[in-house]
Amino acid sequence: MPITIKTIDDIARMRVAGRLAAEVLQVVAPHVKPGVSTAQLDRICHEHIVRVQQAIPANVGYRGFPATVCTSVNNVICHGIPSDAKVLKDGDIVNIDVTVIKDGWHGDTSRMYLVGSVPTLARRLVDVTREAMWRGIRAVRPGTTLRAVGKAIQQYVEAERFSVVREYCGHGIGKVYHDDPQVLHYDSPDQDRITLRPGMTFTIEPMVNAGARHTRLLPDGWTVVTKDRSLSAQWEHTVLVTDTGVDVLTRVPGDDNEPARNGL
Ligand code: MF3
Ligand code: CO
Ligand code: CO
Repeated sequence: MPITIKTIDDIARMRVAGRLAAEVLQVVAPHVKPGVSTAQLDRICHEHIVRVQQAIPANVGYRGFPATVCTSVNNVICHGIPSDAKVLKDGDIVNIDVTVIKDGWHGDTSRMYLVGSVPTLARRLVDVTREAMWRGIRAVRPGTTLRAVGKAIQQYVEAERFSVVREYCGHGIGKVYHDDPQVLHYDSPDQDRITLRPGMTFTIEPMVNAGARHTRLLPDGWTVVTKDRSLSAQWEHTVLVTDTGVDVLTRVPGDDNEPARNGL
């Protein structure tokens, strides 16, 4: 399938959607503490999107998903379903993944939160995954291929002795939530077939396991966990290929989520 190239107008709208999605992750942040349930966090995100942003929570009803955000705790890799029964406790790590639709355009982003005081290995996993995402983002430039992204991520993660999940990937995004191309987070020669062009928009959202890369889908049909029950982390941004490099559409200005960047 051809990859859509966004116009200047499209990009302006995607910037708005991206900013709103990033704002949700900031708004919920102070609530991510021991004792809160993942359903409470979901309600906070939902209310903000619907009432304050006057936007649409893209996940609600998406292929039957029952909530506004995915909340993936500890050994959950992705697509955790918010629940009143899932109460966060000291030492947990949790990913919150949100997508908003504004004016017909999608913004998709996720980040990790540390709950209380988190053990060293878990903190290192969170940091390595964030840096892996940024290495993928920094590999984006016009004229290169998508292979550079997955290669940068896999090389770094494996040098840190963690593993990259293969069953789930990033994706083109725009008016369509999950569009072409697939953005693999590991090296694959196939990805050399996709040359990056200004105006392409896609997500980069590596999932990294502390143990083996293998996944298991729980009987609820959504929750993906590590097969070996090891911890897993994920970070996600929506990015735009520009004439000179890359622009991150879901970045929060002044936020501390990113390491120093050069010419990004
Ligand atoms: N936001 C996820 C992604 O990064 C997809 C979640 S789909 C849902 O692509 F249905 F689980 F919400
Ligand atoms: Co997402
Ligand atoms: Co995504």
